[in-house]
Amino acid sequence: MDDSPQRFPATLPVLRAAALDAGFAMSCDERTGSLLTVLAAACPGGRVLELGTGVGEGTAWLLDGMDAASHLVSVELDAAVQAIARAELDDTRVTFVTGDGGEWLESYDGPPFDLVFADTWPGKFTHLERALELVVPGGMYLIDDLLPQPNWPDGHGAAVDRLLAELAERDDFRTVRLSWSTGLLVAARVG
Ligand SMILES: C[S@@+](CC[C@H](N)C(=O)[O-])C[C@H]1O[C@@H](n2cnc3c(N)ncnc32)[C@H](O)[C@@H]1O
Repeated sequence: MDDSPQRFPATLPVLRAAALDAGFAMSCDERTGSLLTVLAAACPGGRVLELGTGVGEGTAWLLDGMDAASHLVSVELDAAVQAIARAELDDTRVTFVTGDGGEWLESYDGPPFDLVFADTWPGKFTHLERALELVVPGGMYLIDDLLPQPNWPDGHGAAVDRLLAELAERDDFRTVRLSWSTGLLVAARVG
């Protein structure tokens, strides 16, 4: 089976070109993107959180699955890369926040989310508890980049192993690990 995506967000080519121009190489893999679309489509009227906007490729995949009543909050520390997403994704369903994801998670006091894509340090390697707390019962939490890469800094593999072990031990989430795309974990809140 060819497992590459069969449908792409209309905004993806321009975002990819802008990422290339900006030297930004951290956008999500297209297979991960296609899963983001499906998960976003599975929660009509849903509230979606992305931690780490980058240039907006993950945002575009999420928007492609979201219905008109869904809303996405996307948080990014680097204003310059997020400016690309802001410029190219002119969509009232997304709110871009520029700032540190950890500080945002600590100060956020709004309603929880149906889907959390934690694609940066906060919400994944730090502030994990807070990110999981913000998932509604029945909601999903997704992380990628879990398969070893040659450019990982010393100690990162051990940090990933600790994260996977911590998530596996929780009673309030059911998890599945996928050695697919860049290595994913999807968790659903049961408690
Ligand atoms: C893997 S990239 C995000 C890719 C994007 N989600 C996508 O799917 O295309 C991670 C992003 O996190 C941002 N970042 C790094 N530290 C951060 C922090 N403390 N808070 C928020 N964003 C951060 C980086 O600037 C980078 O753009």
